[in-house]
Amino acid sequence: MKIARFLSYFSGLAISLAAGWTVLPQALYKEVPQPASFSHAAHTGEKGGMQCTDCHAFRTDGSFAGVPKLETCAGCHAEPVGETASEKRFVEEFVKKEREPQWQIYSRQPDNAWFPHSVHVTRGKLACEGCHGSHGKSAALPAYRVNRITGYSQTVMAGMRMDDCVACHRQRGLSHSCLDCHK
Ligand code: HEC
Ligand code: HEC
Ligand code: HEC
Ligand code: HEC
Ligand code: HEC
Repeated sequence: MKIARFLSYFSGLAISLAAGWTVLPQALYKEVPQPASFSHAAHTGEKGGMQCTDCHAFRTDGSFAGVPKLETCAGCHAEPVGETASEKRFVEEFVKKEREPQWQIYSRQPDNAWFPHSVHVTRGKLACEGCHGSHGKSAALPAYRVNRITGYSQTVMAGMRMDDCVACHRQRGLSHSCLDCHK
């Protein structure tokens, strides 16, 4: 009798632990929709033929323009150039209404952390792929998920946290004092 209760206690514990490890990490994240669908591949692939910097420019003062504004898109998409439903929707909902799409940024850092693109790309000669993977060639946007506790996206949680920045700086013998990255 005692043994049976003992065993059922442990199997109950095992089940709740297993649930905690698999269900909880998922429940920690809230999915936030992107404003429109977007295929990098349609633009940067052979057919589109565009360079990253056609949309993600460095300004003359060296600062990074980030995600392009609607006016960059409107030059080509005043009317649909293809037959896809996603493009028609983009033209109707954003270009014609002059509504700026509010893209969610997968790698967004808090305001108190300073990340200069030009230092890494222009001076450090690091490739976009080294930090962002194959996002620039992807055919569809990955789900954008925010950690309910930290407020960071799943992408940041999976490899763009402070430890990841410091690990590369350390490995290359670069300075990594607090004030390099925190203002
Ligand atoms: C036609 C314009 C266009 C071109 C060309 C382009 N991008 Fe983008 N890029 C966008 C738009 C719009 C977004 C916002 C939606 C998204 O996250 O994909 C974006 C977002 C990104 C992001 C996501 C940043 C984040 O953390 O949310 C990365 C990384 C990126 N682009 C890399 C690239 C690379 C690398 C190339 C070249 C191989 C490239 N892009 C070419 C328009 C473009
Ligand atoms: C230099 C011209 C050019 C620019 C600039 C441009 N596009 Fe495109 N876009 C294209 C072409 C070409 C296609 C492919 C059309 C086809 O064959 O279906 C396309 C396809 C699309 C599609 C449908 C495929 C998909 O991505 O789901 C969307 C949506 C789209 N573009 C959004 C944008 C947005 C947003 C921007 C600005 C960040 C932008 N485009 C900038 C030329 C351009
Ligand atoms: C050393 C790592 C690293 C490299 C290399 C890098 N990025 Fe980023 N990228 C980041 C980080 C970190 C952020 C978030 C910055 C922030 O929120 O302040 C970011 C943000 C972005 C964004 C969103 C910016 C915004 O605020 O709208 C785009 C677009 C982007 N990167 C594209 C690129 C492209 C294109 C390249 C290559 C030319 C590139 N990145 C190279 C780490 C990197
Ligand atoms: C893959 C390696 C790598 C990663 C990851 C990386 N960095 Fe760097 N970082 C560099 C290199 C290389 C330089 C120096 C470039 C040069 O001066 O030639 C640099 C320089 C800097 C500087 C400029 C310091 C100065 O000299 O003014 C800051 C700030 C910085 N990084 C912040 C960050 C932050 C924040 C992150 C994480 C979000 C990050 N870095 C991730 C490689 C990296
Ligand atoms: C190479 C860049 C870099 C250096 C050096 C650096 N940090 Fe950070 N730090 C970041 C980034 C990026 C974040 C945001 C992402 C995160 O929380 O991991 C951050 C986040 C933090 C946070 C907030 C953590 C949270 O989860 O809210 C604190 C506190 C902090 N840093 C303190 C420090 C202190 C103290 C030092 C010096 C010992 C330091 N940092 C050095 C890049 C850096």
